[in-house]
Amino acid sequence: MTEKKKLIAGNWKMNGTLEANDALVRAVVAGIKDAKCTVAVCVPAPYFAQVQMLKSGSALELGAQDVSQHTQGAYTGEVSAPMLREFGVRYAIVGHSERRQYHGETDALVAEKAKTALANGITPIVCVGETLADRESGKTEEVVKRQMAAVIHTNGHCISEIVVAYEPVWAIGTGKTATPEQAQEVHALLRKQLAAATAHAERVNILYGGSMNAGNAASLLAQPDIDGGLIGGASLKAADFLTIVAAAQ
Ligand code: G3P
Repeated sequence: MTEKKKLIAGNWKMNGTLEANDALVRAVVAGIKDAKCTVAVCVPAPYFAQVQMLKSGSALELGAQDVSQHTQGAYTGEVSAPMLREFGVRYAIVGHSERRQYHGETDALVAEKAKTALANGITPIVCVGETLADRESGKTEEVVKRQMAAVIHTNGHCISEIVVAYEPVWAIGTGKTATPEQAQEVHALLRKQLAAATAHAERVNILYGGSMNAGNAASLLAQPDIDGGLIGGASLKAADFLTIVAAAQ
């Protein structure tokens, strides 16, 4: 089997301007010329065309931050996987904790979104992760395995084609990064759960997200089951994002 490449995906969240995006994407494109990992930026939908144009001819991949579980129809405000494909989008984050929190996305809905994405040529980056209350009450394993189980149940043998992002909610945007040992413990649990569902669990990139930055990326990415990162704040700063990319070689 060919060596699995790590994946570093930036999640810009609801940030960006045409001017700032131009400088950021040009710097990232220039900085990843010799990258040995896959690099993607998951951007707000209005910027798909701009980023598609700026990244043309480079290895930079384009991602979305959500995708509908429907492929067309009367679903005001939603964006379908076929539409994403038309803009050259390769990845779509699904089930981010901010969407679970602010939009009430359930485990079942996240699983359906992942299924629709896979069926329409989009690789889902499925987010799982516990809250601080979950962790402090010893429920981390129960929560992340429940979230993962829904995606496995709905997607069956296709589960080996997804990307998983373990994002402890208490580490997102807080600067309180999980230690490499804490992250590896959960990544190993997820790998074991995937291995019970597919013979190709090793093919699945399990990313860590939650205050990964230029200073801690190397120690996190050195862990055996951490196959990359889903980067929020640090993805908006070209130098920091490229330092994380360099740590993923
Ligand atoms: O999806 C990645 C994001 O939730 C992590 O954000 O700012 O903690 O890197 P941040």
